[in-house]
Amino acid sequence: MCGIIGYYGNKVVKDVLFDGLKKLEYRGYDSAGVAIYDKDQYRVIRARGKLNHLKERLDGENFSGKIGIGHTRWATHGIPSETNAHPHQVGKISLVHNGIIENYQEIKETLVRGGAKISSETDSELIAHLISQEVEQGHDLKKAVDQIIPKLEGAYSIVATSLDEPDTMIAFKNGPPMVLGLGKEEIFVASDAQAIIHHTNKVIFLEDLEVVKIQGTNYEIFSANGFPIEKNIHTLNMSPEAIEKQGYKHFMKKEIYEQPRVVANAMRDHIDLETLKVALEVLNSEDQIIAAEDLKEDLAKVQRIFIVACGTSYYAGLYGEYLIENMARIPVEVEFASEFRYRHPVIPENSLVLVISQSGETADTLASLRMAKEQGAKILSICNVDKSSIDREAYYRLFMRADVEIGVASTKALTTTMTVLNLFAIYLGTSREQINSEQEKHLVRSLQALPSEMEKVLAYDSFFEDAAKSLKDFRGFLYLGRGANYPVAMEGALKLKELAYMHAEGYAAGEMKHGPIALIDDRMVVVVVAPSDSVYEKTLSNLEEVRARGGHIIAIGTEKNEKLKNLSKHYLAIPKSTWNLNPILSVIPLQLMAYHLADNLGLDVDQPRNLAKSVTVE
Ligand code: G6P
Repeated sequence: MCGIIGYYGNKVVKDVLFDGLKKLEYRGYDSAGVAIYDKDQYRVIRARGKLNHLKERLDGENFSGKIGIGHTRWATHGIPSETNAHPHQVGKISLVHNGIIENYQEIKETLVRGGAKISSETDSELIAHLISQEVEQGHDLKKAVDQIIPKLEGAYSIVATSLDEPDTMIAFKNGPPMVLGLGKEEIFVASDAQAIIHHTNKVIFLEDLEVVKIQGTNYEIFSANGFPIEKNIHTLNMSPEAIEKQGYKHFMKKEIYEQPRVVANAMRDHIDLETLKVALEVLNSEDQIIAAEDLKEDLAKVQRIFIVACGTSYYAGLYGEYLIENMARIPVEVEFASEFRYRHPVIPENSLVLVISQSGETADTLASLRMAKEQGAKILSICNVDKSSIDREAYYRLFMRADVEIGVASTKALTTTMTVLNLFAIYLGTSREQINSEQEKHLVRSLQALPSEMEKVLAYDSFFEDAAKSLKDFRGFLYLGRGANYPVAMEGALKLKELAYMHAEGYAAGEMKHGPIALIDDRMVVVVVAPSDSVYEKTLSNLEEVRARGGHIIAIGTEKNEKLKNLSKHYLAIPKSTWNLNPILSVIPLQLMAYHLADNLGLDVDQPRNLAKSVTVE
């Protein structure tokens, strides 16, 4: 899942490409490069490592042309190196690619047999060879691309240029996202609208197997079977300021702090302020709000819910299971998308498949959606990115409304999703008469109080800034929680692994005695999430077991709690809330803990090694 960009226009091409790549860096950051037209040639400049290395090489360079392409890489085929970095240049062709070509071995053998000289270890270079061969036979670039598409198996979004047509770029995709940006006297193509929103908010989303020919500032889009087509131009409502750090040291820190605001945003449209009822606003594929009666009738039929997601979104899903089963008494199964898509699941009639994805582009989640759709299931999505692939393919659409999330480790997308899941569960619960109107009011009031309670929890920022200095010397971290706090424990551990590269495990507190208890000694930090709820007493017993074995305990509980305080080395109080919202309050200190540990260790918080924000490959 790399980031790609192409530009034609009057601005300084290297600046437009570099700025765009900066915005796409979340997609990969192990090497980067550009190819820009300059006096009868495309000059390729590439560098291993983060974008600042490329910047050093670009400084002082001037290019006369109006056209160029750029790429930031997350290595799949071939190590991160300058040779494997994009753009790849073969003959007259320069090309950038995001994705994985599955039949690359076969293509490579054929090319080598034909005498081609392959200089990198990438699958991407092979595509440049294929196009180059077609161009050498006299085809123009568009025709050359048409000829080679049937030879490619796998996932790709590609922009290619040719020396023969120095004002032309061809962009095409199958799988990973690609968006065309229409400016005034300029045109862009990119993996994500974030890369171009500073220049234009008029975009066209490309569908799989469509091909765009950009010639100067004109463009033509062709369908999979080669016919010219007209597509809708969308006007995006995304502010460029939302993608700046605004004075915070890291995007992650800014995003942690934004949570009270975006959580309030996430619930805003779904609550009737007069009646204190949940009035769920679900959109259909035409951006229209589904009429209340239709939604109610449709959802009344649902007998089973599958929640499918990856990473942090998967933990949000696990939390959703507790909510929906408790509040609406509908059976829920939660599954990693990478498993769901291949295990041939039984999806009975009247099942709803709920897919959760911040980016809306995660390849496994998208493939699961398509598979479930083929089996006749209705799809409800919760995405952050409006008009992302998952959002576009879902039948019912809900939104996180978290604004742009840049930090690779997800924070605000999690808490906004948890908020939306509450609204959804309350809605299902009331429509099935599992929740009466007094209970509904109580739940809605506690949701309304949530943003200001979240603000209080942010005060643990300075505690962890200090505590990180000693915590970083421990051997390992165990996170424990029960019930709806179990997913929080797993998310806490995931954050620490992602950011601080320390071994951490999230466990159901009651299961600890069946194994992990053997790990506990005074070099082990045990984080226990134990807010006041129906399983609090049980968690307390688990905490006693940890203390008896010398574990360094950090406990999270509700308000003043002397018992928890006495049992732990550090006690973190969260405000009193309802059982369903405690997990949202508890997860914030865990985000801050991982953040400060990583920062204290001098690690790159926003771009942890080996990760990428949007995983558009399998
Ligand atoms: C990557 C990111 C995670 C994210 C996961 C799922 O692994 O690093 O932060 O939770 O993908 O992403 P999605 O966009 O589908 O929520």
